[in-house]
Amino acid sequence: MASQDALTGWDDLANAEAYEAFTRTFPMYDITSRDLARRARLETAELVVDLCGGAGATARALLDLLPARARVVSVDAAAAMQEVGRRTLTDPRLRWITAPAEQLGDHLAPGSVDAVVCNSALWKTDTPAVCDAAARVLRPHGRFVFNIGGGFAGVRHPDEETSARPSLNALIRHVAETDHGPLPPPPGPKEPKLPLETITRQLNAAGLHVIDAEVTAQHSTMAEKKAWLSIPLFARPEGDFTHEQRMRILNDAYARTTPDARTVTSWLVITAERQKAAT
Ligand SMILES: C[S@@+](CC[C@H](N)C(=O)[O-])C[C@H]1O[C@@H](n2cnc3c(N)ncnc32)[C@H](O)[C@@H]1O
Repeated sequence: MASQDALTGWDDLANAEAYEAFTRTFPMYDITSRDLARRARLETAELVVDLCGGAGATARALLDLLPARARVVSVDAAAAMQEVGRRTLTDPRLRWITAPAEQLGDHLAPGSVDAVVCNSALWKTDTPAVCDAAARVLRPHGRFVFNIGGGFAGVRHPDEETSARPSLNALIRHVAETDHGPLPPPPGPKEPKLPLETITRQLNAAGLHVIDAEVTAQHSTMAEKKAWLSIPLFARPEGDFTHEQRMRILNDAYARTTPDARTVTSWLVITAERQKAAT
């Protein structure tokens, strides 16, 4: 099972509403969702799983790109995210299931799914269990397509060199320390949690094979980054601050930047395929 920590915060209505509003106002989650959808080969698909689908940003992209007869099942452990999604995305082709990704196999028949797509979430789950569950529900040659944040995968696209400096995160730290005193030192470089070798091993053990792995760069702006850092779950700095304090610090930090300055995020994007019957 995924740790409870990984889910804390997502199952909060205020956070879910802020997150969903962000996905409709800014392109970040739509761009990565569409990228995954295109890699999933949806032209002939009839049933697609949006795994860790949250409030439906990825489902929206899938529904847009799928043939009209196809259906999407959005699976997420956070009821609050799905509550907001249900309110705002009413498409009869979409079904919501509130469940941990690791238990996907309890909700869908073996071999019944053409593609499983997971945007911006896989590293938060118990990945060997999720690979097993995805392999179980996929039909032979069905695709499991997902992305892993660059820091978690240990990859860095060369475009990151062009990201505006200082970063908004560095400015937040600077403002917080000026106004509130020293923060604990930032964590040193950590071993990446889910590098390509590790996830490849887990996929293979589940009967899935990597057919493509690409490091991509997502280009964004300071304005988008600021809006993202306003979502309660993502707000900084960590530690004993209220959300109001964090927002004051963020506004001060943002005032020292240029709204359209470029920021770059790296992703490792993986397309895996089920080659034969899962064990
Ligand atoms: C950043 S959001 C991404 C949502 C959606 N894919 C999108 O692109 O907007 C991460 C989501 O992963 C979900 N999540 C994290 N761990 C999970 C798990 N083990 N099982 C199911 N959902 C999980 C959270 O509840 C949250 O909705």
